[in-house]
Amino acid sequence: MNAMDFAGELQGRHIVLGLSGGAACFKAAEYCRLLTKAGATVQVVMTEAACQFITPVAMQALSGRPVYVSQWDARPDNAMAHINLSREADAIVVAPASADFIAQLAQGRAGELLALLCLARPIEQVPLLLAPAMNREMWAHPATQRNLRQVAQDGAQVLGVAHGAQACGEFGDGRMLEAAELLEELIAFLAPKSLLGQRVLITAGPTFEAIDPVRGITNLSSGKMGFAIARAAREAGAEVTLVAGPVHLPTPRGVHRIDVGSARQMHAAATGHAQHAHIFIATAAVADWRPASAAEHKIKKDGSGQVPQLGFVENPDILADIAHSARAQAGELYCVGFAAESQDLQANAQAKRVRKGVPLLVANLGPATFGKDDNALLLVDDEGVTELPRASKRHLAQQLIHEIARRVSGLDA
Ligand code: CTP
Repeated sequence: MNAMDFAGELQGRHIVLGLSGGAACFKAAEYCRLLTKAGATVQVVMTEAACQFITPVAMQALSGRPVYVSQWDARPDNAMAHINLSREADAIVVAPASADFIAQLAQGRAGELLALLCLARPIEQVPLLLAPAMNREMWAHPATQRNLRQVAQDGAQVLGVAHGAQACGEFGDGRMLEAAELLEELIAFLAPKSLLGQRVLITAGPTFEAIDPVRGITNLSSGKMGFAIARAAREAGAEVTLVAGPVHLPTPRGVHRIDVGSARQMHAAATGHAQHAHIFIATAAVADWRPASAAEHKIKKDGSGQVPQLGFVENPDILADIAHSARAQAGELYCVGFAAESQDLQANAQAKRVRKGVPLLVANLGPATFGKDDNALLLVDDEGVTELPRASKRHLAQQLIHEIARRVSGLDA
């Protein structure tokens, strides 16, 4: 994801960004910049060890606020930086969280300002997220793993680590997540959890129907809407499986992605996962027809001026098949269809909803949305028609997930 994907996402949020010692402090500088770009105000607090890796001056320049290091800092009128800082925060994120810092937290120690304010925070109101960063042996050590379990049990949210080259020259687990990944994790953490415990299956993108080994039939769907919905569903607490046709989009964090090519491959993957899903959202622009037979070798011009005759056969209808499955009919699987139309949006959507046998159909104008970053949606269900006016696909995806969660839970949100 690029920084633009996060614009305004943390507007009005105040984040305490804690740095403990480690080479990953350089990533915390970038993280600080992304947090402010996303609209958050950031108060940086550093340990003495962190100051060995990056200066408080650099972090002050990036956050636009003086940095705190010591609990003996005389700036606060009441001389209680640990209380003031922890009360103002919407979340405290410690990135990097070193092995030593996590050990301090596990023991409830408060020898430095950062550990002190984590201990002093009101646990119920101020979440604490930890982004560990350390050498692979330190990460794997039983003491570290024991401390991580302890801090998680004490209410901290421990983020994952990455696998790869480490500052020490070794290779393995323990690298801190990248700045953009940390931002995605924080935004997801702060999102309302309207789909907690739900398994959501989504199809996205176009399909590719082969003519021969080098040619095929596809369409202009970019997959952006489906990927945005997958991200919003995961942020809402769902376990998400995304069956994606050929698109060049990054997988949203925490989403299980299955890449497919043809409609028949998408059908097989989707019907398999639909056995365990609670919600199915079909955003894919599935090719209605495929060439009757794909040539084994490239079809060549024979010089006669004759063009190949392509016969077509109809592809399986993934949405209709799943919507008519026993689980969907029994109300165990809630199906949402999309309709890409080029005219008469509402009438076509209403007819398609009946034809596909789905409780909710989401209509959009294909030519006005394919490949674009924004869209407008019309939701058709037995309540009537709800319009989601033109907005970014990101914003529409969040609204749609909210609408689906409301219908699935039967609660008024
Ligand atoms: N769909 C599907 N499998 C197909 C065709 C469509 O799962 N073989 C799903 C799409 O993912 C979408 C919905 O059905 O959720 C409607 O797709 P759309 O292309 O708008 O409609 P079609 O069924 O293809 O009907 P038509 O082309 O006549 O508009």
